[in-house]
Amino acid sequence: MEIDGLTFPEALKQLAERNGIAMPKRNEYGDPESKLRTALLEMHEIAAQLFQSNLRGPQGAEARAYLAKRGVSPDLADHFMLGYSDSGGQSLTRRLAQEHFTPEQLDASGLVRRRDDGSLYDSFRGRLMFPIHNESGKVIAFGGRAMRDEDQPKYLNSPETPVYRKTSVLYNLHRARDTMRRASRAVLVEGYMDVIGVYAAGIKEVVASCGTSLTNPQVRVIQRLTADANVKAGTVIVNFDPDNAGANAAEKAIQLFLDEGMHVRVLSLDGGLDPDEYVKQNGPEAYRAKLDSASGYFHWLADRARVRFDMKTSDGRMDAFKFLLPSVQKISDKLERAAIANDLAGYIGVDPGLVLDQFKRAAAERRTPAPKAPARPAIPGIENLLLQSLLASDEVRAQVLPVLNTEGFATREIFDAMRHQQESGAPVTFSSIEARLSPSAQGLLHDIASADEMIEDAVAREQAQACLRRLEADHRKRQVDDLRAKVKAAEREGRIKEALGIIAELERLRKEMNAAGVD
Ligand code: CTP
Ligand code: MN
Repeated sequence: MEIDGLTFPEALKQLAERNGIAMPKRNEYGDPESKLRTALLEMHEIAAQLFQSNLRGPQGAEARAYLAKRGVSPDLADHFMLGYSDSGGQSLTRRLAQEHFTPEQLDASGLVRRRDDGSLYDSFRGRLMFPIHNESGKVIAFGGRAMRDEDQPKYLNSPETPVYRKTSVLYNLHRARDTMRRASRAVLVEGYMDVIGVYAAGIKEVVASCGTSLTNPQVRVIQRLTADANVKAGTVIVNFDPDNAGANAAEKAIQLFLDEGMHVRVLSLDGGLDPDEYVKQNGPEAYRAKLDSASGYFHWLADRARVRFDMKTSDGRMDAFKFLLPSVQKISDKLERAAIANDLAGYIGVDPGLVLDQFKRAAAERRTPAPKAPARPAIPGIENLLLQSLLASDEVRAQVLPVLNTEGFATREIFDAMRHQQESGAPVTFSSIEARLSPSAQGLLHDIASADEMIEDAVAREQAQACLRRLEADHRKRQVDDLRAKVKAAEREGRIKEALGIIAELERLRKEMNAAGVD
């Protein structure tokens, strides 16, 4: 859900498709958010094809020459679906106008822009286009590189849209994921061209966080895919540009990966080269050898510390120690941690006793167990059935919600949210209900939705009626039991008149129940 910005049912559907599992159709795919996302994906697919055919056509000559100059073969360009957005500013706009997209969908896509007079023009003009895919391989955004120095900015990227969440997308993830899994390893680089260069060198498990600094959701994706079947932590090799910005970004990335318990190595290439340039100058074998010999992050960090702090003074050494300590403490593997702790004291010349002390403190903190999430209550069968029916049918909702008493329901919050949504007049969709719920109620809703089978309106109606009858019967039964207990108590205490009154009431109830056919 987080990675692709999906609602729960959409995520279910995507996983089902990816794994070849049949999914029953649900009606909430008709909800406006899903419709918009579907339209955006269609537009991006159309745009990618148009850009690609531009690159192959007469107007793509300059872009083809540019790619050739940068060592990207036509095959490689095809593989990455590279394209060219022509400089006229009208062709994508025109192409999209031939389809059925609404003005709102066009505006939301980020692919076209609107002038004050309402007319549209292409967002990307005269640029080399890199399609960005989601994990399932659908095009969700573009990066557009200028090909002349005077064209600014160097990269123009798609804005954030309902299908493109910059902070959780990794460039090339859909091509990299299988190898990441198999090799329990990922290579993280900075740019589009780096990804293409490294991939061409036979390293398929390469990804980049394009245009944003690395985020925790991106790190978790890498962590999840590289963890092996025994859920042992995978390895990531961070290979950023050797400039200062690259080194600072690498420092941050290391911390994020350590926080997720990954093994982290750092490759900094000599000669001030970024990965793409290195592969081009030294060839794929040289690059692969560099990757395999990339050192553990600690040595890289220690080198950084030595440059940054004055190691000749004891203050400087203490600062270096403080700089390095957090990353060492984050290592979850005991043996690795011990080895590095040993190194640490020697490396920067601080008192080994001090290192040990700090380590004990960190270990004690780690032992304090995290509070457990409270167990989710089981959903009573009747509530489950009723919710299923209500989720399946507008008509059933309209009939049932106004008359339903949800007192004492484990899923009361869900019913109430549904009722509120219904009363607001806005469409009742899975995500609109979800948005009104507390996290624990969201969990309950997910349980219900994942167990869901498709029910038709007629079945939903019948099922809901049966549930209502059952609830009504239960309610009466509780009333009867309650009154009987009261009769007994009154008799016991000699309040005969009162007892007779209650018995009359019981009799009336029983008649009502017979009349209603409730047993
Ligand atoms: N980037 C961006 N906007 C910019 C500059 C960079 O979004 N104005 C992102 C792009 O994803 C780019 C990455 O940051 O790929 C790395 O930037 P940089 O190293 O400048 O570019 P390279 O990828 O190396 O591209 P090239 O080799 O073509 O210069
Ligand atoms: Mn580069």
